[in-house]
Amino acid sequence: MVSKPRLYSGMQPSADSLQIGNYIGALMQWRDLQEAYDAFFSVVDLHALTQPNDPAELREKTRRTAAQYIAAGIEPSKSTLYVQSHVRAHAELAWILSTMTGFGEAGRMTQFKDKSSRYGTDATNVGLFTYPILMAADILLYQTDIVPVGDDQKQHVELTRDLAERFNSRFGKTFQVPTPVIQKETARIYDLQNPTSKMSKSAESDAGVLWLLDEPSKSAKKIMRAVTDSEGVVRFDREQKPGVSNMLVIFAALTGRQIPAIEDEFAGRGYGDFKKALAEVVVEEFGPVRERALELLADPAELDRVLAANAARADEVADATLSDVYAKVGLLRRV
Ligand code: AMP
Ligand code: TRP
Repeated sequence: MVSKPRLYSGMQPSADSLQIGNYIGALMQWRDLQEAYDAFFSVVDLHALTQPNDPAELREKTRRTAAQYIAAGIEPSKSTLYVQSHVRAHAELAWILSTMTGFGEAGRMTQFKDKSSRYGTDATNVGLFTYPILMAADILLYQTDIVPVGDDQKQHVELTRDLAERFNSRFGKTFQVPTPVIQKETARIYDLQNPTSKMSKSAESDAGVLWLLDEPSKSAKKIMRAVTDSEGVVRFDREQKPGVSNMLVIFAALTGRQIPAIEDEFAGRGYGDFKKALAEVVVEEFGPVRERALELLADPAELDRVLAANAARADEVADATLSDVYAKVGLLRRV
């Protein structure tokens, strides 16, 4: 049997619900890719510790994020879907890799520079600085071939590649060197109220964000109130018509239709009609996803069992890589 190439990706458990940008930009792709790849998807709770968290809430967000992966179609019998902290090897490999990462090299990561300049040095923890090294450990433990991510994560995957190549050239071939697969611009979703900013879990106002776990009627209302323009024509033009263009992208992504066909369908009709149709599409898509997620969350013990079984599968692959690394760098083997 020819084995499938490996895929790795993950998301932080940073909110109670994912938003539809996460769904269209990440989960839909993951769901499709899980057929052709031996895929590993993690809920990266160790990464989430770099932000202030209430412990009980973090636990809950971790379960909820995992439930939404499954509800969106990631199948825990097909892909390895697990919680990062359940696999000890992540933190251990991150330590080894941190001893091979330059201080300046880590300091050049733009996400760290943005965050540390926003919070100030005293409020910036060292974990935020080493965040990309932990991400490199996530990826390298599984001998990953491809890493689908948003473009803000590209630099972190480049660092991962550099670290893999550095380790391999110093100690002999140990890691597969992974390739980033950057999300298409057409998979990027913007805020409904502020359609030039990315839709985000941390948006200032809730009115522009569609949550996966919201009541469908609430999302429909948000769409009816979404910002448009005064032209009154349903056509794609990111510069002049960011609001309408964003809704066209959502419509196309969820129905699998092409944007010109949707423009034609709404030619000569107003924004009201278009929004109503989009609201129906969104309700139809997310209604069942929400129900499935709530069903899974109603039985946390069963969900925890599924996650544990998947973590055991992840452990096997991760432990093999970590043992090889420990031996190669010269750590004495415990007999
Ligand atoms: P975040 O929770 O913001 O870290 O997002 C996790 C992943 O979801 C990102 O790496 C992207 O692939 C995807 N994502 C988040 N927000 C959006 C968005 N507005 N549009 C498209 N994809 C998004
Ligand atoms: N840093 C990624 C993000 O914020 C999440 C992440 C952690 C990740 N480890 C990863 C993504 C490994 C891909 C592969 O979106």
